[in-house]
Amino acid sequence: MDESKSKLRYRHLTHRGMSIPTAHWTYDITKSYDWNYEFGPFNIPAYPARSVKPSKKFLSFKVNSLFGVPAGPLLNSRWIEAYSKLGYDILTYKTVRTRSYPAHQMPHILYVEKNKSKNDSSFIGKPYFSKVTSLAITNSFGVPSKDPDVWQEDVKRSLRLLDKGQLLILSIMGTQDGLHSQKEFIQDFIKCAVLAMETSAPVIEVNLSCPNLHGGGVVCYDVDLCGKICEQIKNVIGDVPLIAKIGYFNKEGELIKLLKKINPFIEAVGAINTLQGNIIDLQHKKIHMRQIGLSGVCGGYIKPYALNSVKTLYKLRDQFKMKFAIIGIGGVTKPEDFESYLAVGADAVQSATGAMTDPYLAFKIYEKQTAQKKDYQTAKTIGTSFFSSVSQGLSLNEFKEIYLQMIYPKTLPENKNTLLIREDRFKLKHGEKGRKHSHIYMNHRNPIFINAWDRRFLVELFNQLICERILKNEELSKNRYGVVAIPSSSSPELTASMLDSLTSSIGRAVVMPHQFLTQEAGAHSKLYGDMDVRKPWVLIDDVFTSGKTLQDSIKCIPDEIKYAKDPLRLFAITLISRNPDKRESFTKSTGVDLFSLVTLEEVLKYHWKRFTSKEKKLILKERSELH
Ligand SMILES: Cc1cc2nc3c(=O)[nH]c(=O)nc-3n(C[C@H](O)[C@H](O)[C@H](O)COP(=O)(O)O)c2cc1C
Repeated sequence: MDESKSKLRYRHLTHRGMSIPTAHWTYDITKSYDWNYEFGPFNIPAYPARSVKPSKKFLSFKVNSLFGVPAGPLLNSRWIEAYSKLGYDILTYKTVRTRSYPAHQMPHILYVEKNKSKNDSSFIGKPYFSKVTSLAITNSFGVPSKDPDVWQEDVKRSLRLLDKGQLLILSIMGTQDGLHSQKEFIQDFIKCAVLAMETSAPVIEVNLSCPNLHGGGVVCYDVDLCGKICEQIKNVIGDVPLIAKIGYFNKEGELIKLLKKINPFIEAVGAINTLQGNIIDLQHKKIHMRQIGLSGVCGGYIKPYALNSVKTLYKLRDQFKMKFAIIGIGGVTKPEDFESYLAVGADAVQSATGAMTDPYLAFKIYEKQTAQKKDYQTAKTIGTSFFSSVSQGLSLNEFKEIYLQMIYPKTLPENKNTLLIREDRFKLKHGEKGRKHSHIYMNHRNPIFINAWDRRFLVELFNQLICERILKNEELSKNRYGVVAIPSSSSPELTASMLDSLTSSIGRAVVMPHQFLTQEAGAHSKLYGDMDVRKPWVLIDDVFTSGKTLQDSIKCIPDEIKYAKDPLRLFAITLISRNPDKRESFTKSTGVDLFSLVTLEEVLKYHWKRFTSKEKKLILKERSELH
């Protein structure tokens, strides 16, 4: 729909001179749930194109991104299709029941503002909003559901519509009204799970947290009931992962009790559902919302509560050695919110209000991430967990691009760079026959010592190089590998960093004999251990020049490893190959294959425009000289 029509639609909502809402609702809040079910979604003029591959992992599924929409906004397969095309990859089908169930009467959605005159959880409901940044709404649908015959077919259709790297979660719940005992209520949950299984949905979510139901209380605050529901659902769904969607707990002790009860039966926790608020419907003169009083508040207002919940879940999971994945939900309306959730420990993030009011939110996150991948300096400012989640999804080519930026960044003072070009010649520390002098110097100690991000990045980069170039075979990767320190000044530190950061995937480093280590000063003393002959070993060094250093190191490696049969062999890997043409003779004389990320030529070409004419002259002179 074009902008002018959408403005017309909202005109009657303007109130006391407030502006027309600028949000791009895909759900028409002025119309009924059934109308939106039949005709929505709206306001999606185009579908953006992404270039993605399923490189992230959520539960045991490979997904394109860790972002999606929780139960609620995706009313049926048409909505699922639209949001899948918009680039949301973890999509939850709105909660279904064992029978058809009508929606509450209108209004279903109102903007809300905290009632400043009262120090409690009361809100003023408004049919407009003034600030998009604090977008908060209340929704009171009453969890409407179609008959199982309808939703089962529709879920199957949704599954067919998804793209590669997208995951569908089906949200289910039991219906309390009309039933007389808790047992019957639990039975209704189980019946719903059985119906859900018939659709072949790959993941099932149990909604334990809808606040605005006729039955009153929120299920997740009844810990014993939740334990029974989750246990019995797990009995019928078997290996299909189960997510428990919970509400906000203001007492950690209560959350611990719940987790202990449900942990054996679930694979993930989705937190949080809407926060209960007392809606004082002062400005929308409709009786029903006022009658409900307590209603679910979502959007920007609940973000601090939801973030805090994720932080606590992350802490408790660790403390009690539990294994569930965490889905962070609540107030994600911009890419930075998504990042905040990953930073506090979420394994995936979903947005309801944000995705309904800005359908391009997923694309904005994608764009920001791709920009960050291209700009290492920006990525570094984001934070540990976000940065490592970015680097985990990188291909070797993307690593290469970032590495090229990292070693000669525009923002660092020249002497902090890895790549240094000077008029005075540097004495090459090692490797070059006859120890020639050079105008070009690569000092990887700078990133290793100066900046923790760079160190972490280099470790990930080496790991990726080793896994992609050497250990292509899955069995080999599982077998892990060992890293050997080379007695140059930076690589023992690199090895130490790899031991620190990748302890689960690599073996111990080995100390080179004293005569090599003393050639250069460095903190090598902590690198020690035996070489396990059952795994491949990799010599890592930063720069390959003539291969002399590597050759000297290989001499010290036990024969069982040096001459082990393919594929359990010894390999060598370097970041830069200064003289790639010497690589072949190196392999011939040592029997060790050498892999490098880039050649010095590539590095110089990449940064060529930034060199002064004097530097260019020096480089050209030297490269032909040294060749
Ligand atoms: C319109 C709407 C409908 C919702 N329906 C459901 C639902 O059926 N089941 C459920 O578990 N949560 C439901 N929710 C709650 C959301 O999944 C989510 O937990 C909550 O809105 C907080 O996220 P947000 O701040 O991004 O909106 C609904 C939320 C909205 C806005």
